[in-house]
Amino acid sequence: MKIKNDDKDFGLIARGFHWTSALIVLALLSLGFYMAGLEYSPFKLQLYFWHKSFGILVLMLVVLRFGWRIYSEAPEPLNSHEKWEKVLSNIVHVLLYLGLILMPLSGWLMSSAGDFPASFFGLFDMPDVVSKDEALFTFLRKVHTLAAYALIVAVGLHALGAIKHHLIDKDETLTRMGGHTIIIPAALILLAIPAYLAGKHIVADLLLKEHEHEEEQVEEQHAHEEPEAIIIIKPPSDDLLQGASGNTPQSVSKYNSGEIPYWSIVPSESHIKFEATQYAEAFEGRFEEFSGDIYFDPNNLEQSRADITIDIASIKTGSDDRDVQAKGSEWFDTTKFTSAFFQARSFERVDSGKAEANRFIAKGYLTIRGKTIPVTLPFTLDFESAGDDSEMAVMEGTLSLNRLDFGIGQGEWKSTDTIGNAVKIMISVRAGKAIATSE
Ligand code: HEM
Repeated sequence: MKIKNDDKDFGLIARGFHWTSALIVLALLSLGFYMAGLEYSPFKLQLYFWHKSFGILVLMLVVLRFGWRIYSEAPEPLNSHEKWEKVLSNIVHVLLYLGLILMPLSGWLMSSAGDFPASFFGLFDMPDVVSKDEALFTFLRKVHTLAAYALIVAVGLHALGAIKHHLIDKDETLTRMGGHTIIIPAALILLAIPAYLAGKHIVADLLLKEHEHEEEQVEEQHAHEEPEAIIIIKPPSDDLLQGASGNTPQSVSKYNSGEIPYWSIVPSESHIKFEATQYAEAFEGRFEEFSGDIYFDPNNLEQSRADITIDIASIKTGSDDRDVQAKGSEWFDTTKFTSAFFQARSFERVDSGKAEANRFIAKGYLTIRGKTIPVTLPFTLDFESAGDDSEMAVMEGTLSLNRLDFGIGQGEWKSTDTIGNAVKIMISVRAGKAIATSE
């Protein structure tokens, strides 16, 4: 068979573009509607990954196909076609091309506006073409859905036309695109994909039901027992911290005397953000509510200490689905573990050899999901005069940790294929020096 098109027939390359795109687009349409309705899970994220990768492939194929069409002209429509058939088929072809461009473009832009990863089979990430914008994300999501419906209509008309020409008119419209040889394997593959997905869904459903049944039985067994009281709403005491590392934490008594200056956090000018990865692409989140007691004297680091409490339910991850998931029992479990705590119990100045000498290390304990781990937080600290006799301090620090050390991500989320283990915490605190009050 010829590679290029001629006056009568489509060549191998044009046929390849046509049937590969058709197969992928039909699979993407069914996969799209299926995955969008799933509960948030690693399986859903995996499907999003494949959907996006194949969607980007469609965009590449469309560009190449245009190029090939210019290089190797398509054969003329058959003379046997009525005029109205030629007009309708031209309109449908334009709609198909528009759909093939609009679908991947809206998907890519939607991911970019939502600050979600759009990877091409893990080989490279599509560039972020727009900055994060919630309203634009919602709009593009609607465009993606509406374009999908329009594409279904166009594909339907296109297929009906081809079938009419083949079965009723008995002309070469379908055969010159190689449709007669490709249609059976294509139909089989197309049936296999939804069948596989449905099968996986049914199996997952059955496993879930079995799991729920087991849980119900356990609940029934425990129904008459006292509920476990493991609600953590207080930070671990200094005695417990001592147990966590073997170091001797500072005694609390001297901090109410005013001997060590008390710094009051300005929440509107402070933040606690984090960076994690989904399919190896970074996404940023933050905790909107936190408070702290900071007793800090750069000339008395021995006696300085800080206690920061973070309201875990105030987590924002840039996606409503992800926020709900993050608060759930497999992640932070906010109904049990309402807060996380950072308790700095010793500070050291880092001698950087520079005149500013604004680099410090805080050694302390981080408690998340009820688990306390000793951590070291390097940070910079700069002081500014705030007029009158008051002073402001700006602290910036970054902490790297592994989510699994704290048990964040249980069950299927323990796998780090979808959400990575490493998490970077970025802390920026602006605080004003105040007179310490005794309780
Ligand atoms: C020809 C290519 C594509 C087709 C035919 C297609 C089709 C679809 C369909 C039918 C849906 C379901 C819409 C709904 O539930 O309302 C969907 C959802 C989605 N698509 Fe695509 N898509 C394509 C390309 C892309 C690309 C390139 C991306 C991203 C890079 C993408 C990202 C998404 C996302 C994130 C969703 C889920 C939206 C949600 O959760 O509501 N799609 N797609």
